[in-house]
Amino acid sequence: MRKVHVNLGKNSYDIIVENEILAKAGEHIHCAGGKIFVVSDTNVAPLYANTLIDSLNKAGYECELYLIKAGELSKNIQSICPMYEAMLSFGLTRKDLVIALGGGVVGDLTGFVASTYLRGVDFVQIPTSLLAQVDSSVGGKVAVDLAQGKNLVGSFFQPKAVLIDTAVLATLPDSFYIDGMAEVIKYGCILDKDLFEKLDSIKDRASFMEQAEAIIANCCQLKANIVERDELDKGDRMLLNFGHTYGHAVEKYFNFERVSHGVAVGIGMSVVTHLSEKAGLTAIGSAARLDKILTQYGLDTHIEADQDEIIANMANDKKNLGKELVIVLISEIGKSFLYPTTSEFFRECK
Ligand code: GLY
Repeated sequence: MRKVHVNLGKNSYDIIVENEILAKAGEHIHCAGGKIFVVSDTNVAPLYANTLIDSLNKAGYECELYLIKAGELSKNIQSICPMYEAMLSFGLTRKDLVIALGGGVVGDLTGFVASTYLRGVDFVQIPTSLLAQVDSSVGGKVAVDLAQGKNLVGSFFQPKAVLIDTAVLATLPDSFYIDGMAEVIKYGCILDKDLFEKLDSIKDRASFMEQAEAIIANCCQLKANIVERDELDKGDRMLLNFGHTYGHAVEKYFNFERVSHGVAVGIGMSVVTHLSEKAGLTAIGSAARLDKILTQYGLDTHIEADQDEIIANMANDKKNLGKELVIVLISEIGKSFLYPTTSEFFRECK
């Protein structure tokens, strides 16, 4: 078992990483009112909802399970009214608790609903995808999508706890494992050379799983350090966007359908590092090391696409409105910095 404390004053909480913690979740949950509203999706619930709810019942809590359809389309503003109504019918009060059991979609949507129901009710994240375990469940960003774009309505609302069960990764399809690995590699690139080297030495998914508890806790600690310094994403927290500017433009180019978030971030990290190396901003050889590790984990380093359109997507991104674009670069593996530029930086893509 590993514990990471996120120190945010009265919004502080623990992240507990442990194999099979799901079956003991009730021991880690505190809910004065005694009612727990569990949100999960149609992929995750059949595998894990019973284990969680049995453990909560054993601890004396009354539970209601609410299911959303698996997939990004559920993370939308229309999904939230039926959720509020179900919470009211269950009699959920501000002394009670909401749990998100699932990947990033479930976590973001549930967190947003918890942050607004009765002006805020406590919630706990139990992330089940690698990507959610190392990134989206930590740090309190909660949101829903609008037709115009992803995460356009949201808030910062920290969970009361994050419980990470590494055992649930066993049922994760390979494509989701690969997707999450892009974010794990990102932490090594921007903040932790030792983590990068450890990842480099891992040859397959089975070997990763042997060290999953330590690696996931390491990523959560790195993110906690950043969130403690910059909870509201006005400075250092932007370092977590390494690879995301170009990556997000790629996702948009393919209408968020063909290329998953992690794969797009992998491509984005590679593209920006080749360019920054050429511009003399990054130690020579860093891009080659990055490409090697991305390939080793089944990620791509480039994609065929119309670069003019990708650059136009970047310029129109909600985060980049105006001419200036702040991108994240690495000076070498394990060290990163923010670099103000424009989307023209990407003109000479490999
Ligand atoms: N996913 C990046 C952040 O939480 O800031």
